[in-house]
Amino acid sequence: MTSQIIPVDPFDFIIFGGTGDLSERKLLPSLYYRQRDHQFSEPTRIIGASRTKMSDKEFQDYARKALTEHVKPADLDKKDLEVFLARLSYVPVDAKTGDGFARLKKALGESDSIRAFYLAVAPAIFGDISHHLKSHGMITPNSRIVVEKPIGRDLASAKALNDLIGDDFGEHQIFRIDHYLGKETVQNLMALRFANALYEPLWNSAHIDHVQITVAETVGLEDRVTYYDKAGALRDMVQNHILQLVCLVAMEPPQSMDADAVRDEKLKVLRSLKRINGKEAPKSTVRGQYKAGASSGGAVKGYLEELGSESTTETFVAIKAEIANWRWAGVPFYLRTGKRLASRVSEIVIEFKPIPHSIFGESAGRIQANQLVIRLQPDEGVKQFIMIKDPGPGGMRLKQIPLDMSFATAFDGRAPDAYERLIMDVIRGNQTLFMRRDEVEAAWRWIDPIFNAWAESRQEVQGYTAGTWGPSASIALIERDGRTWHESA
Ligand code: BG6
Repeated sequence: MTSQIIPVDPFDFIIFGGTGDLSERKLLPSLYYRQRDHQFSEPTRIIGASRTKMSDKEFQDYARKALTEHVKPADLDKKDLEVFLARLSYVPVDAKTGDGFARLKKALGESDSIRAFYLAVAPAIFGDISHHLKSHGMITPNSRIVVEKPIGRDLASAKALNDLIGDDFGEHQIFRIDHYLGKETVQNLMALRFANALYEPLWNSAHIDHVQITVAETVGLEDRVTYYDKAGALRDMVQNHILQLVCLVAMEPPQSMDADAVRDEKLKVLRSLKRINGKEAPKSTVRGQYKAGASSGGAVKGYLEELGSESTTETFVAIKAEIANWRWAGVPFYLRTGKRLASRVSEIVIEFKPIPHSIFGESAGRIQANQLVIRLQPDEGVKQFIMIKDPGPGGMRLKQIPLDMSFATAFDGRAPDAYERLIMDVIRGNQTLFMRRDEVEAAWRWIDPIFNAWAESRQEVQGYTAGTWGPSASIALIERDGRTWHESA
């Protein structure tokens, strides 16, 4: 994707969990790409920090392997790679005992350049790391800390975690990452709404019938057994990624792209979400768990077989959400996400109201409501479905076609990974695409009651065959209202 690259100031990037999965798959490749595209200034350093004992050279070898596996061969320039590896060093640290933090301080030296401490580790040690950084005097005014989800597993634990980090870092230094906000089409949603005069006058309950948000995956548990079984789809996907998408669709126009202006508006949406209680839950939510089936052309095991034990954790969830404010009252937001579904697709569908009266006779065919489909992945782009006359002589027949703005055809080049954009925003100190403390907590305030409602109503997880679109109850959830899920495949 062609865009102007503006170099950032020199920085030190410290990855706790430097030899973990996130570092290997996302952080190191993203940093490599940003350097390759000339976004770094000198001297910029990347320091791996983990419990594993290793030398600088071993960390560089580890990174070389990670980049070979996770960067497209055509993008892996030999010279760029060597320059990148030369930036890398490693300090073994133990977050529990504090061992190694003095060495890390020495490695950082007295420089006042930007420091980004990236916590690609389990949340259980966020507080320990943050306190060691503080007690060793490593937190300079130019430092930031980046934390990955999950921020807690409910409101109380999220608050406790925010308190722990907040003891050491100011809120303006805390970057709570939600990588969905770094996706091109997600940012494009803001451009679509607020850089065009066309949509905003229609963006309300007078003109919009309902909204659908689907985040469907074909993968199963992968290697995340311990984490996932404790989390489930509601905590893993809805509390963060999907609610962030809801916010961007539903928020009022912020005064500017200033971080607090945007986050203030998102917060109002989260606060307006109508609580779901035990009486409503069986009608407005569906919990599912995949059973053996087929995915990507091969047979796959069911969740319980992959897990190797009994569990009622949901791998699928569908929710009919409502936003109780003037703009959205009466406009349902149908949300669904799941593992081992029929295809990998994430999209937002805005369905407008039907026309009030048709001047065309029955022979013209059915007049379908306009839909705006924002496709996050794959095949990123935006499609506006409209009705036109089917070309040719004869009677007036109507058909629906998409005005298609696929990114692959509209722009040249590679679409950068969400992490590339977000890491550079951390360095710039721009928090617009990061979650503020009150947002995370407001999201939990809506999620916690759903768990309570499930317990209260004894709502069971319903099995679905891997490779399908989830339990049939999720189809019923929307069809009861006379609507259907957008055909996403
Ligand atoms: C993560 C979840 O946050 O997002 C995973 O923990 C999920 O379970 C992933 O697979 C999906 O991200 P993406 O970018 O592949 O849609």
